[in-house]
Amino acid sequence: MRILTGIQSTGVPHIGNILGAIKPLIRRSRQPGVEAFAFIADLHSLTTTRDNTTLRANTAAVAAAWIACGFDTKKHFFYRQSRVPQVCELAWYLACFTPYPMLANAHSFKDKSARLSEVSAGLFTYPVLMAADILLFDAEVVPVGKDQIQHLEITRDVAGAFNNNYGSVFKLPVAEVDNDVKLIPGTDGQKMSKTYRNTINIFLPEAELRKAIFSIKTDSTPIDAPKNPDTCTVFQLFRLIAHPDAVEDLRNRYLSGGLGYGEAKNLLFEHLLECFKSERMQYSDLISHPEDLEHILQSGEERARVLAKDKLLKVRECLGL
Ligand code: TRP
Repeated sequence: MRILTGIQSTGVPHIGNILGAIKPLIRRSRQPGVEAFAFIADLHSLTTTRDNTTLRANTAAVAAAWIACGFDTKKHFFYRQSRVPQVCELAWYLACFTPYPMLANAHSFKDKSARLSEVSAGLFTYPVLMAADILLFDAEVVPVGKDQIQHLEITRDVAGAFNNNYGSVFKLPVAEVDNDVKLIPGTDGQKMSKTYRNTINIFLPEAELRKAIFSIKTDSTPIDAPKNPDTCTVFQLFRLIAHPDAVEDLRNRYLSGGLGYGEAKNLLFEHLLECFKSERMQYSDLISHPEDLEHILQSGEERARVLAKDKLLKVRECLGL
């Protein structure tokens, strides 16, 4: 079974991204019979990022994070979308099968365009590019967040319209929405998100990571008093990464009083370092050796282009081009 996911290159993936999306997909990719495609949607990022230094740095950060977290780039497919030009070619063909009102009425386009002073055609055709990403590789399952469900519906509609005209050329992909994704809280207790500026970047140097952990908001219960672990962000994060015995232990210490938030934060910090030890090492290795990272990406891109070329040969044939 082929599963595929695109990651926008908007910054260094934070713990929320890692625990909520990257690690689950990597676990999935290790199941027998699964062929996984993970790519950096750098073309989509052009709808929001116009600074080339930032875009390059973000692309490297996303790539390094996936590899450091254990994505097997040799067994599966890992590439920059921009290095597989067939994506853009297919996007044009698909655009010719996409009803204008379907794009004009898409929630995501309406939301984004309402907030912008300038609306580009790229933002408008964003879902078509996404359909090309998916259909090019005959992906069957696409794990997405709720905000992307409509984009998957558009993909299926467009694929269906094409197939109606030319026979079954494209597989209709299924969106897989993980409804029980754990809510991963940020430093202020809200959902961890770049937009709320409450993220914790697990790849920071130790001193800065420590600072980030210590910036987690806690209440003013005195040290001696019992504390509620279930309303404490420090505990919520601890629970996501520590061994169940350690979690039980910390829960009891919260409940019995005598544990300060400073100590709890220290415990969280130490567990994070331990839990992400190899990821942190590999990440800094890759970031400080961009030529290694480039090599990994380029070999993935070469393999992806072989499949893409083959698919487009068929598509062009169908179209009469
Ligand atoms: N639009 C997706 C997001 O913002 C990223 C993306 C681009 C994607 N192409 C994709 C996701 C194809 C899944 C499949 O999250």
